[in-house]
Amino acid sequence: MDLYNSSFASFLFLARLLPQSTAEVRGDRELAEGEGEEQGMAEAHLTLLLLAASMSCLVTASQAHQKIHIVGGSYGWKIPPNTTFYEEWANKQSFFVGDKLVFLYTTGLQNVIEASEEEEFTYCKQTNVEDVQFVGPTILQLTKAGVHYFYCSVGLHCEGGQKLRVNVTHEAAA
Ligand SMILES: *[C@@H]1O[C@H](CO)[C@@H](O)[C@H](O)[C@H]1NC(C)=O
Ligand SMILES: *[C@@H]1O[C@H](CO)[C@@H](O)[C@H](O)[C@H]1NC(C)=O
Repeated sequence: MDLYNSSFASFLFLARLLPQSTAEVRGDRELAEGEGEEQGMAEAHLTLLLLAASMSCLVTASQAHQKIHIVGGSYGWKIPPNTTFYEEWANKQSFFVGDKLVFLYTTGLQNVIEASEEEEFTYCKQTNVEDVQFVGPTILQLTKAGVHYFYCSVGLHCEGGQKLRVNVTHEAAA
């Protein structure tokens, strides 16, 4: 429901991002046939998928598998208005293995760090970083059940509440 409601705002957001992303993808293709292309293609693919989903309102609760969560809804991924913003957002969602998280942000202004421990997340430490993504938008698939921690390591963004904890579960057997 939340995802559905935020789809329209997200569509507007994505519409602005799209020309930039397409340009990046084209650049990647020319530069490298290998990894760059793979990532670029994945990004292009997902951006189009999101666009299509937003336009035709396909993102509904009935689409149980591979749900796409736009982190923070139309607000996107940046320093939040308060420190519980992303926690409140996450509490309204259910995350399942196979779902995707979309962090919408401008490259260079934010990033996405995946921390492996709660302590790093709580204290915004970078002692055991699992993954760093710095080209927006970042699209991550939740491949493992359990609690996953993400934050932005730019400046004091994490301290300002730009952090997200998601508890990923396997789809309950019907
Ligand atoms: C945090 O900000 C959001 C968005 O403005 C608001 O909906 C929410 O109530 C705020 N939470 C607190 C604890 O102030
Ligand atoms: C994650 O969700 C599962 C299933 O709802 C629950 O059993 C578990 O306690 C949760 N873990 C945390 C750390 O909240």
